[in-house]
Amino acid sequence: MPQNKAWTLASYPAGWVTEDNFKLVEAPAPTPRDGEVLVKNLWLSLDPYMRGRMSQQKSYVKGVEIGQVMEGQTIGEVLESKHPGFRPGDKVLARLGWQLYGCVRGDGEISKVDANRAPLSYYLGVLGMPGMTAYFGMKEIGQPKAGETVVVSAASGAVGMVVGQLAKIAGCRAVGIAGGREKCDFVVKELGFDACVDYKAGNLYRDLKEACPKGIDVNFENVGGEVLDTILRLMNPFSRIVICGLVSDYNATEPYALKTIRSILVNRIKMQGMIVFDWQKRYGEALRDLGGFIAQGKLKYRESVLEGIERAPQGLIGLLKGQNFGKQLVKLA
Ligand SMILES: NC(=O)c1ccc[n+]([C@@H]2O[C@H](COP(=O)([O-])OP(=O)(O)OC[C@H]3O[C@@H](n4cnc5c(N)ncnc54)[C@H](OP(=O)(O)O)[C@@H]3O)[C@@H](O)[C@H]2O)c1
Repeated sequence: MPQNKAWTLASYPAGWVTEDNFKLVEAPAPTPRDGEVLVKNLWLSLDPYMRGRMSQQKSYVKGVEIGQVMEGQTIGEVLESKHPGFRPGDKVLARLGWQLYGCVRGDGEISKVDANRAPLSYYLGVLGMPGMTAYFGMKEIGQPKAGETVVVSAASGAVGMVVGQLAKIAGCRAVGIAGGREKCDFVVKELGFDACVDYKAGNLYRDLKEACPKGIDVNFENVGGEVLDTILRLMNPFSRIVICGLVSDYNATEPYALKTIRSILVNRIKMQGMIVFDWQKRYGEALRDLGGFIAQGKLKYRESVLEGIERAPQGLIGLLKGQNFGKQLVKLA
């Protein structure tokens, strides 16, 4: 049996996550029981939601318990199968977490992915959960119309990249918000957004106003806090806000209190939270459309790859501080 390495949760962080919150555990890889398959993980996705799982606070999904393997989506290869639907060599998407090997039930807990259609890592990003989030958040909640202005925060990240490009495909003006000149240049020059504002430059309101001369019709919000407060001041009457994430608040010990909430009333803004799992039954539709846009060269995508399971904690800590540039992944094999 190969040797497994797994990161477990050692303690709940108070404020920022540190490497001490995790413990690396080694043991022989498990043996599959009837109905299960043994998977060797090739890619691990790191995502901001993981900070929420390292907490006992009530949320839409239960958190990770102390001593449990850290949660996460993985792409792997089947090594041994005791389920008729899978064979050794099949490439699969699963939620095996921060570890090298794991057993999973063949019914409902994993799905095959097609390595000939796209690089395997894409099924954790643009063709995976972040891509689905961008797709359904825009289509079902943002509902952009040609000629409108769409603003997305964390614009160079896994979700933000796709949101802005979907806005362009819909005929909108796409404006990003990102941290630093390098990320903003990438968003405009490589992804084709019309503008991108560096929120770290210190003039967010002035710069965003200049980038959105006709105001904002759709805000796809990934950050919250001061960024959202500033955006609210520029929203148009009858505009829409998709509350997708509030990453600026995830490590805060006190939640940020919005000051400009009056704008929602005055402008009759429709604001809705979204959780991607609500659209699970329609993932096929998103996969078809996003895959089509990639094939047509209309959808570009960037990854930030760390090598080796040992670096997973460092990757999550960096992601929460904006050190990733594109979809954060850990290459395991
Ligand atoms: N609701 C859902 O179903 C769902 C699904 C997927 C993701 N999400 C949410 O979508 C958001 C983006 O996720 P992602 O996977 O695409 O991550 P990501 O954008 O690839 O990475 C996170 C980015 O957030 C930005 N950030 C971190 N701290 C910040 C702060 N204090 N102020 C402003 N920006 C900060 C950083 O970019 P900069 O360097 O530009 O600051 C960082 O690169 C997150 O809020 C996540 O929780 C929600």
